[in-house]
Amino acid sequence: MCGIVGYIGHRQAFPILIKGLHRLEYRGYDSAGIAILQDKIKLYKTKGKVSDLEELVKGENLSGNIGIAHTRWATHGEPNNENAHPHLSPSGDLALIHNGIIENYAILKKELLKRGHVFLSDTDSEVLVHLIEDIMINDKVTLVEALQIALGYVIGAYAIIILSRNNPDLLLAAKKGSPLVIGIGKDEFFIASDATPIVEYTKDVVYLKEEEIAILERNKDLKLITVSNQEKRPYIEQLEMSLSELEKEGFPYFMLKEIYEQPRSIRDSMRGRLNAEKGIVSLGGIIDYEKNLVNAKRILIIGCGTSWHAGLVGKYLLEDLARIPVEVEYASEFRYRNPVICEGDVVIAVSQSGETADTSAAIELAKSKGAIILGICNVVGSSITRVTHAGTYTHAGPEIGVASTKAFTAQVTILTLLALRLGYIRGTIQESRYRQLLFELETIPEKVEQTLKTFDIIKNISNIFKDSKNFIYLGRGYNFPVALEGALKLKEISYIHAEGYPAAEMKHGPIALIDEEMPVVVIATNKGTYQKVLSNIAEVKSRKGKIIAIVTEGDVAVKKIADFVIEIPETEEMFVPLIATIPLQLLSYQIAVIRGCNVDQPRNLAKSVTVE
Ligand code: AGP
Ligand code: GLU
Repeated sequence: MCGIVGYIGHRQAFPILIKGLHRLEYRGYDSAGIAILQDKIKLYKTKGKVSDLEELVKGENLSGNIGIAHTRWATHGEPNNENAHPHLSPSGDLALIHNGIIENYAILKKELLKRGHVFLSDTDSEVLVHLIEDIMINDKVTLVEALQIALGYVIGAYAIIILSRNNPDLLLAAKKGSPLVIGIGKDEFFIASDATPIVEYTKDVVYLKEEEIAILERNKDLKLITVSNQEKRPYIEQLEMSLSELEKEGFPYFMLKEIYEQPRSIRDSMRGRLNAEKGIVSLGGIIDYEKNLVNAKRILIIGCGTSWHAGLVGKYLLEDLARIPVEVEYASEFRYRNPVICEGDVVIAVSQSGETADTSAAIELAKSKGAIILGICNVVGSSITRVTHAGTYTHAGPEIGVASTKAFTAQVTILTLLALRLGYIRGTIQESRYRQLLFELETIPEKVEQTLKTFDIIKNISNIFKDSKNFIYLGRGYNFPVALEGALKLKEISYIHAEGYPAAEMKHGPIALIDEEMPVVVIATNKGTYQKVLSNIAEVKSRKGKIIAIVTEGDVAVKKIADFVIEIPETEEMFVPLIATIPLQLLSYQIAVIRGCNVDQPRNLAKSVTVE
């Protein structure tokens, strides 16, 4: 899932590349490396973060206006200095950075070893740069031709950039499976895994397509060819991202900034789509497929991690309001099963990054079985948005913290709008109820704003439970996915083991874990099952568990038995996930901060999981 960045032009490459790496560091931070072309390739790489690389190159002369840089999330070979990218070809002429997996690297490596190649790393990526040079020398072809031939042999996924000592005015980039964007400036090119390293220099970008190779030559126009040697016309798009969206704006961590952005991001996700006064909900992006949804015999929602949790909330909403059967499945499971897709099924893929490999593969599989695929994505122009039949953007803005927060509530917002729209057209919600729900939905951003004020209470609770080894999260109905999401957030950023369960499942096993050491977070806002949740809390209390309850403002009964309560504003039960998630995000954030964890870049994780 690495982040790759390249520059060729008239400016100093180093500061552009380092800044770019910082922006891409969410994609992986096992090691970082840079190569700048002077009269030879100057290469520095190290285990650790981009800041470690900056430390390493302090005092070095890295001037030059062409270079490449990499921040790694290791797939092949442990995170050490040797496995850090860039990797050099045997002669040292070529330097390559790679995001993806060369699945057949072992076979290729074996062949190259027989021919006398010596490898310095355990990575699949190093094999590719050796292969390219081997072809160049043995087949006596140009670098571009050798690249085409080599990529023809490769099975797997790649976004690569190549720097060549003998071609000081040229960078080559190629893509299959992993993302790559080219920024076109005046007499300069920027290349990166996403647009964030590019946005401050140019808004003109080209998203490389599958098996395209970009030839970036100094003072020449961008040239695109394919691996099979067809010429392609670059399609230049305009970036809509702004620079301020990529800054922390005074917050200590991106995650906290993103939690606090939620009143705005939920509002933005509803903007132009919800008009309670007029009784209108419309999702323009999927209008052409609305009939398919309205008549769907079944909706399948696929996603991973937090996006899967949002999908689960979507199931409750769609079944409740539109009365369409919904199945929610982990994309990673779906892709390797032999799922039954019938006529009349619609698949909705949910993904913040729009780059998740498992979700992309699940989409391809569903497509091959003839399903209509709709996307709910956050990153504009990302891979998934290009392979779905249609989709709706979440408008959360760039999410940089690895733990997803505002993207989740934005995904749930879109699914809520969709359920309301379908319920209305299908006549499964009464007009008056529909109207009432729309008005209530419009108040949610305000209620989220109010909920953020619970942070002081949450700070106290965090101090008390910061050293707990385990946490349990319980919720019923709409609050069950919220419990799962709360547990995932805590695991991800504070490394405390946490599990989410439907509250009533406790008695079927997990209750054995309860003792005086066990904090149990219960989302106890349900109207329909309030008494039942109260009983579930009592069951925990009688085994001396510590209850942290999320309750509706003015609650009396839960307050009496819970150890700690966090009050949230009252709303319709189906909208509670949009609000109840906020204190859980803040709780995991605060505990992680107290424990000294790197909230934005938790260990072993990366934001876009572009590998299997
Ligand atoms: C969320 O906090 C996680 N980091 C992770 O579970 C994430 O939601 C998952 O990898 C899916 O990513 P996507 O939404 O970009 O597809
Ligand atoms: N497979 C390469 C490595 O392990 C790149 C990893 C990636 O893109 O995630 O170095």
